[in-house]
Amino acid sequence: MSNLFSLEGRVALVTGSAQGLGFTIAKGMQEAGARIVLSDVSAGALEKAQSLLKAGGREAAGTYVFDISDEAQVVPAVEAIEREVGPIDILVNNAGIHKRSLLIDMPVENWRKVIDVNLSGAFIVGRAVARGMIARKYGKIINIASINAAMVRPNIGNYCAAKGGIVTLTKSMATEWGPYNINVNAIGPGYFLTDLTRPLAEDPEFDAWVKSEVPLQRWGNPTDIIGLAVMLAGPASDYISGQTIYIDGGWQACL
Ligand SMILES: NC(=O)c1ccc[n+]([C@@H]2O[C@H](COP(=O)([O-])OP(=O)(O)OC[C@H]3O[C@@H](n4cnc5c(N)ncnc54)[C@H](O)[C@@H]3O)[C@@H](O)[C@H]2O)c1
Repeated sequence: MSNLFSLEGRVALVTGSAQGLGFTIAKGMQEAGARIVLSDVSAGALEKAQSLLKAGGREAAGTYVFDISDEAQVVPAVEAIEREVGPIDILVNNAGIHKRSLLIDMPVENWRKVIDVNLSGAFIVGRAVARGMIARKYGKIINIASINAAMVRPNIGNYCAAKGGIVTLTKSMATEWGPYNINVNAIGPGYFLTDLTRPLAEDPEFDAWVKSEVPLQRWGNPTDIIGLAVMLAGPASDYISGQTIYIDGGWQACL
């Protein structure tokens, strides 16, 4: 049996991969054999990420700076990646942001910004990359959703709406692009320790709440996401499409 979890010879583009879950996913895919392309809106952070990889004896096949919510940046960047690195086989739509406040106080610009990056960004990059995948009749797209697509909390109504949208966007992409042998799935992480959640982890009350609610009694470590990401990027998932798989320490299993 060929290795169901090998990404040997594949090119993987991960957005928002200068740090956090995106960087960890990219690194995990590299260890599974993929040539990885790091991309982020922050050039400085991308440079640091590449140096970190080099210090570990590896490097990304390319680093590209673009804002996922701006099609005028995305389309030329995808063209450049395919010209300079190679056709993209695997796309992880990972980049995301928070702008926290109660809905009643939320400036409309903060609503729009979060929808624009967290939801429209996945559509814009997904479509730009899918054009080549459709022509080649092969592709794996992984959209990063969140536990907040299924269970919400106050203060993040914009984020929850965007992540709920990711779940249905994943189904639409899977429906329209399945005939071209493209698998599209989403990962819904629970609470993982990254810069995005640092303000929550540093709040002792919130930290204790997470540990008491999650059956596994801890936050997710970024490396906890690698196995699922590699599975959804490789042959093991060839007949899985349109799904959102939650990785939340068991949180959604219990009241
Ligand atoms: N950390 C968690 O607990 C958690 C839980 C559920 C879902 N998620 C999701 O996982 C993804 C990664 O989160 P993280 O915790 O690693 O966050 P992070 O803040 O550590 O990293 C996000 C990266 O995305 C980049 N980015 C932001 N806006 C961008 C844009 N417009 N274009 C390109 N890059 C952009 C940032 O510069 C940053 O490097 C996000 O979609 C987030 O919503 C995270």
